[in-house]
Amino acid sequence: MWWLVESGQHEKYSSMCIIHLPLSATEQSLRNSGFHDMRLFDPEVMPHPDFHRLLVGGVAPRPIALVSSIGKDGRGNLSPFSFFNVFGVNPPVLAFSPAYSGRTGLPKHTMLNILETKECTVSIVTYEMVHQISLASAPYERGVDEFVKSGLTKLASVKVAPPGVAESPFVMEAKLLHHLDFGKKHGSANLMICEIVMLHVNEAVLTDKGGIDPVLIDQVARLGGPYYTRAKRGLFVLPQPSVPLVGIDRLPEEIRNSPILSGRNLAQLASLEELPSGFIEDDATLEARHTSAKKLLKADEVLAAWKALSGH
Ligand SMILES: Cc1cc2nc3c(=O)[nH]c(=O)nc-3n(C[C@H](O)[C@H](O)[C@H](O)COP(=O)(O)O)c2cc1C
Repeated sequence: MWWLVESGQHEKYSSMCIIHLPLSATEQSLRNSGFHDMRLFDPEVMPHPDFHRLLVGGVAPRPIALVSSIGKDGRGNLSPFSFFNVFGVNPPVLAFSPAYSGRTGLPKHTMLNILETKECTVSIVTYEMVHQISLASAPYERGVDEFVKSGLTKLASVKVAPPGVAESPFVMEAKLLHHLDFGKKHGSANLMICEIVMLHVNEAVLTDKGGIDPVLIDQVARLGGPYYTRAKRGLFVLPQPSVPLVGIDRLPEEIRNSPILSGRNLAQLASLEELPSGFIEDDATLEARHTSAKKLLKADEVLAAWKALSGH
């Protein structure tokens, strides 16, 4: 018995991807029982970006590791990775995958740093932090410290050199156990398997029984494309930056030091490719301008918020 196996959107890959395979007894019985609509996707014949799109959409939601690392020259780095999880407690092990860039084929700075110094911290990402971690994920030059770009705060570590992220209620210090390289090609994975050597948990999210309160910790997780989920609520959209962004360090001083705008608000304003022109600092109207910008940012109206800050 033979049947048609389709890979991907058949209009797009028709000649490249359609192959024939014998139908196993299990597959035949699935077909007979009514599962007619299953398509097969073969990674050997399908373009990697398209297979990646399906994988990250299907294996979701994934927790997000916000990884802080330091190179041997002391340069710091902070970047999010959602090919990530923990795998046991004796010893406690975590792993994440900084892939070779799908666009350039280059290794991620996080991986280069950890291979040099064998240490990192992994901070869990909350809803309040999500704009800041997205800003940290933009492709900056090696040596740019994403703590500075994202406005996140360093939390001193105890057993490793890289700091954690103070805004996160759950921070793991970790040492590299194994590095597995799966090919050095565009999009190839690297598994960084690390032992957790210290855990920091904010008391505010601890339950009386020594667990974690799932509502108070308020984690976010990544799905495919621009989709995230807030564990206690549901889906939302935040497109991933593909070019370097302004960053909080380049915001005008009045905005950076605002008594009204939060780190999340600043990250929203700083997630543009260029700073809007026409901004003038004015102490007399600061409170009204910043309050109105904050309201607009709550509705994700970033350009309108910039206008409000500029007094328009
Ligand atoms: C939520 C989120 C999850 C991400 N997950 C991964 C991942 O698992 N693997 C990866 O290679 N890149 C991932 N990225 C992209 C990296 O964060 C991005 O390439 C970053 O620039 C890497 O920084 P680095 O080169 O400074 O280490 C993710 C980005 C975001 C926003």
